[in-house]
Amino acid sequence: MAKPILVYVNIPFCTSKCHFCDWVTEVPTSQLRLGPADPTRESFIAALCHQIASHGAWLASRDYRPDILYWGGGTATILSCGEISRIGEALHATFDLSQLREATIEGSPETITPDKLVAFRDIGFRRVSLGVQSFNDDRLKMIGRAHDADTAVRALDMVKEAGFDDVSIDLISGFPGQDLQEFDETLELTTRLPVNHVAVYAYRPTPGTTMVRRLRRGTAGSAELSVQKSCYAHAQQRLEGSGLDEYAFGHFGSPRCHSDMAYFKLEQDWVGFGSGATSLLDGEYLAFERGRLASYLAAPTRFDERCPASAPGIAPRLAYQALTTHEGIVRTLWEQRLKQPLEDVLASAPVGALLSILDSLGGLVRDSDGIRLPTEALARAFIHLLYINTPEQARTPIGTEGLFGRY
Ligand SMILES: C[S@@+](CC[C@H](N)C(=O)[O-])C[C@H]1O[C@@H](n2cnc3c(N)ncnc32)[C@H](O)[C@@H]1O
Ligand code: SF4
Repeated sequence: MAKPILVYVNIPFCTSKCHFCDWVTEVPTSQLRLGPADPTRESFIAALCHQIASHGAWLASRDYRPDILYWGGGTATILSCGEISRIGEALHATFDLSQLREATIEGSPETITPDKLVAFRDIGFRRVSLGVQSFNDDRLKMIGRAHDADTAVRALDMVKEAGFDDVSIDLISGFPGQDLQEFDETLELTTRLPVNHVAVYAYRPTPGTTMVRRLRRGTAGSAELSVQKSCYAHAQQRLEGSGLDEYAFGHFGSPRCHSDMAYFKLEQDWVGFGSGATSLLDGEYLAFERGRLASYLAAPTRFDERCPASAPGIAPRLAYQALTTHEGIVRTLWEQRLKQPLEDVLASAPVGALLSILDSLGGLVRDSDGIRLPTEALARAFIHLLYINTPEQARTPIGTEGLFGRY
């Protein structure tokens, strides 16, 4: 029987390097902003298509069949129509994409055009996820976004007109200096727009970002745990009040985002194409060196990192992700994916450290099904975890990256 697999395509380019963003900290800005005419970007598309054909054929020969497709980044919608078709053709030539239960294209409002949306539908995308972050123009400028609120609203209209009924936006709650009223205005507009799903990310003060440098210098206001908690609690109330129920930390609405849930809960293996992608295949975790486009271009089928997914450097990140869901770490799924008894994985010191902090913050439930936080404690515990080294009013947030690595 065919094994379901999530296919992730990473596009490591963006219009701007947003001041808060912790996805691209290792990527030099000049590389992040390469345009479609740049030969290096052209080489990336060629390398990506080569990796898809090569690894894809290997996966198909082992009876993996994609049931979820996700293009993200960076900014996947930054691609030109020509680039979209080339990548789409490489995927269709390699995989049977007839059984997809979800296909999401992720991007940013200023890059959306009607002709790109047609190209995405031709490939099979049925879900669009746009990073909006805020509908406040001053805030959008302050955080280095390449669009204003009107552009975001127009992009959502274009998405709807192009026939996408499954539309999600990302918002960030609790930016330094953001008060409840400002955030409420963003939420209020959100509930009037054609979106059925919202991801609300509590602001993470991650070292290496412009915003954290400003926080440290005292020029970005302060990042306060109490504001974080109240903004997030307000989002829960507002969004649930308009029928968008929370089904995991930061995830509201329906249909659920199957790609995030499959990835967070380890429901199935995934393969990542592109320099910023990771893969989990048959118990092994595979990745490229983050932000190093040149090494990917030189050898797009050779992973720089390769280790058991149960390794102490990887398992805590997987545990972190899983515990943000209501179901948490599900024993059967973990044992299938990591090919080890759950107790052995949990015995490693970094996983133990994460669990004991989360236990102290929210009270972990452990039983024969696995480990989870009580639903009502989930957001509070994770927001607290992000700010654990950030005392109230502090201007020098440290974040959790040093403790648990990237997630
Ligand atoms: C890879 S980005 C993709 C979206 C797209 N590139 C855009 O920004 O429009 C995924 C999401 O991560 C969130 N994010 C990035 N850095 C964050 C941070 N420091 N704290 C909270 N959320 C963050 C943003 O909401 C962003 O939309
Ligand atoms: S556009 Fe998205 S991925 Fe790129 S820097 Fe901004 S938030 Fe990060």
